[in-house]
Amino acid sequence: MSKTNEWWRSATIYQIYPKSFCDTTGSGSGDIKGIISKLDYLCYLGIDAIWITPIYQSPQIDNGYDVSDFYTISPEYGTMDDFDDLLAQAHSRGLRVIMDMVFNHTSTAHPWFQSALESKDNPYRDFYIWRDPVNGQPPNNWQSKFGDSAWELDAHSGQYYLHLFAKEQADLNWENPAVRQNIKNIMQFWAEKGVDGFRLDVINLISKQQDFPDDNEGDGRRFYTDGPKVHKYLQEMNKAIFQRYGVVTVGEMSSTSLEHCRQYSSLSGKELSMVFNFHHLKVDYPCGEKWQLEPFDFLQMKKIFRDWQQGLFNQGWNALFWCNHDQPRIVSRFGCDKKFRVESAKMLATAIHLMQGTPYIYQGEELGMTNPNFQNIDDYRDVESLNAYHMLIAKGLPKEEVLTILSAKSRDNSRTPMHWNDSKNAGFTTGTPWINCASNSVEINAKQSIEDNKSVFYHYRDLIRLRKSISIITDGDYEDLLPYHLDIFCYRRKNDKNEMVVLNNFRPYHVTLDNFGISLSGGDVLIQNYKDFVNIESVSSLTLRPFESVAILF
Ligand code: GLC
Repeated sequence: MSKTNEWWRSATIYQIYPKSFCDTTGSGSGDIKGIISKLDYLCYLGIDAIWITPIYQSPQIDNGYDVSDFYTISPEYGTMDDFDDLLAQAHSRGLRVIMDMVFNHTSTAHPWFQSALESKDNPYRDFYIWRDPVNGQPPNNWQSKFGDSAWELDAHSGQYYLHLFAKEQADLNWENPAVRQNIKNIMQFWAEKGVDGFRLDVINLISKQQDFPDDNEGDGRRFYTDGPKVHKYLQEMNKAIFQRYGVVTVGEMSSTSLEHCRQYSSLSGKELSMVFNFHHLKVDYPCGEKWQLEPFDFLQMKKIFRDWQQGLFNQGWNALFWCNHDQPRIVSRFGCDKKFRVESAKMLATAIHLMQGTPYIYQGEELGMTNPNFQNIDDYRDVESLNAYHMLIAKGLPKEEVLTILSAKSRDNSRTPMHWNDSKNAGFTTGTPWINCASNSVEINAKQSIEDNKSVFYHYRDLIRLRKSISIITDGDYEDLLPYHLDIFCYRRKNDKNEMVVLNNFRPYHVTLDNFGISLSGGDVLIQNYKDFVNIESVSSLTLRPFESVAILF
């Protein structure tokens, strides 16, 4: 099946983190009715589809990524009737709905796992991955993504089960055909309800190397990342479900490779519609270590974009994003969250939205929301952040330093309540929010943004519209024009009709490009963040203001 005419190639997808989106009951936690109440806002922004992070029954150890029943809505979010209403209301406005599917693991509270605990002969035992201890120790040295061993002992049977994430998230055994059949049944249930797509959580981790070796060089990830049977399993799901229901699929990829992503998202349509990978964001992880503070490696970021834009061109399809519920806010990370907040938010948006792929906007990004700058460990809720806190303190780091690291890196940075207006708790809830609001909601909120035609919101709105009207954004090729420039990110897109040059200053100061050498004459400004870019006639020297961004179409 050819994928070249699919709707999602010129679409923009909006990610909703329901817990923090809009609370209609005063519980302090967002709900489905809250999402419904904001659909008109999303239509006004112009997006095509919403991706909703997990709202299924769950003990909420990892905010819903620990599912205990894939067929039930968690009461904190509402009921299945509410969900059906949401789906109908979204569809009636022309919005598509993408559900988050977590199939690498389930909650240990899931009835499958509870049955598996009963005895080694229980038919559900083999739904999970069990190994005997080795010399009284875990079966190997693999580490969980959230810290410590990836194995947890079940004292009753004396065996360990694998969990690549929290110990309450037991990895499913995809080798077992009954597991795969159950996964198909779950997707069939949601597809028959009429949902339009699936976001598949850490889907490239589902196939583990079956001898489970010790990893002498690392944390074990090379033995399960893009593992031996992952393509086979995805092709199986594709035939049984994705093709049959015509759903869009986006695979979240953990530490994947371009080669594998070409296959996952290949234009033949045998596996997934698109991949969602994180390489461009790990440029502020010195030596791969997340919990350290270093300026980001700008040249490396540009190289990664170049490799992926060119590497997937005519071969696969990428998601484009700066933010999601696992990342800090982008203005605080690669832009400026104070003096140049608006300029940098717009620049970052332009830089990513004018590449090839499907852009994702994470709630609040369209307002230029910032990290909340939490000063106290009690402000944090995220299991990964709390584990990291204890791990760093145990390593001997002073508490203040650990808190500084968390305030830059924690996943909770993006999980604070959405800012709707300047009232108490940003109009998110009338109760006590499950996590504190950022303190700048009085200045940064949706109401203010809609009233101000120079806001970040309208810049996103323009970018979403441009994607629909200018085909070069969807189908042009990609050339990195200044790969070694330390401040400017400049790329060219080309198709058989047009050329487009996109210039972005990533710094809070003026940058002059002497001997620029790239002719901008004869082009029209497509979008810009300072609204008075003038010197397009000059080819030899060009000065960009702090975080200035401009795209020129020829
Ligand atoms: C994905 C989710 C993240 C979750 C993890 C385990 O990376 O985005 O929030 O913690 O998978 O399910």
